[in-house]
Amino acid sequence: MDWQWFRTQLLTWYAVHGRDLPWRRTRDPYAILVSELMLQQTQVATVIPYYQKWLQQLPTLTACAEAQPQDIFKLWEGLGYYRRATYLHQTCQKIVQEYGGQIPQELKILMTLPGIGRTTAGGILSHAFNLPTPILDGNVQRVLSRLFALTTPPHRNQKQLWHYSQRLLDPVVPGRFNQALMDVGAGVCLPKDPQCGQCPWQNGCMSAQSQQQHDLPVREPGKEIPHRTIGVGVIWNAQGQVLIDQRPSTGLLANLWEFPGGKVEPGESIPDCIRREIDEELGIDIQVGEHLITVNHRYTHLRVTLVVHHCFYRRGTPQLRGCQAYAWVALPDLCRYPFPQANQKIIQALQARPIPPDPLERGGGRVQSK
Ligand code: ADE
Repeated sequence: MDWQWFRTQLLTWYAVHGRDLPWRRTRDPYAILVSELMLQQTQVATVIPYYQKWLQQLPTLTACAEAQPQDIFKLWEGLGYYRRATYLHQTCQKIVQEYGGQIPQELKILMTLPGIGRTTAGGILSHAFNLPTPILDGNVQRVLSRLFALTTPPHRNQKQLWHYSQRLLDPVVPGRFNQALMDVGAGVCLPKDPQCGQCPWQNGCMSAQSQQQHDLPVREPGKEIPHRTIGVGVIWNAQGQVLIDQRPSTGLLANLWEFPGGKVEPGESIPDCIRREIDEELGIDIQVGEHLITVNHRYTHLRVTLVVHHCFYRRGTPQLRGCQAYAWVALPDLCRYPFPQANQKIIQALQARPIPPDPLERGGGRVQSK
């Protein structure tokens, strides 16, 4: 294999076609760490404004380490996969406490820090320190599977893929090489529609030579993503405030705030579900009112449909049964709390129609109560 030919082709192409991305204009290892965590499972265009705002507010690793968790979540709000925000915060704190504020340049050590797997560590070390560490995100797995016509599904072929990524890596400019490899993955070697005419390797790609590029990488028959319907209550008190609660510090969407609710049981109506969940989690009695909005949202391993109703507080002091904290909040103050993406649509719907329907004026007919 003429590895040098592959490297030269890629680097020549990158000099002309490489993307001008904000984290490519810096060699600050902290900024590169921030970019790599944000870019895990998230598109470049989504990340750019978050990256810029983050560095404006927390320009150094020490500033990040010393920030309050609430500020960290607020800056991450809307980016998804919120565990990464906690990981980035903890990683910066560990680097200050254990490594004198300098990002460790040893792959094995870097990989012990929260949220940093092998490909993130490889991306950071190659980009920030020009070290010859390979990367293997989803795009790179597809590019390598096609380039070398690898017919084993990538998730069962990790060892061979890492081997190719390391072997192909340019030993002189590994940082630039990895960035270029990502650009081929993001813009040329597309999943459904590979742009082989634009590819720096069009004369050397083994799958293009055998017309297999559309059939690779081989996919294992996909497992269905489970779906859940969640009943959610926007609970109003007599002061015109709404009740929100903070999720536990572990698990899905840890530490974020939400409108209370939970999973609909088989055969259960939405109003019954909302009443039951709010009684179980917060121990308060409510009246379920009009439908406000239905929100469909997709997480990596779960699809959810949130069916949201206006509700009215009747009696009881909220208990902290499934949550860390609760707050009664006026609508204009909701923006101070970090919410998961799916909840943003509820806030928008509330802001578009800020006055709750008054249960007393509606009579029994349209208000759904027991
Ligand atoms: N994905 C992960 N790291 C990246 C980077 N540095 N540029 C573009 N996409 C990426």
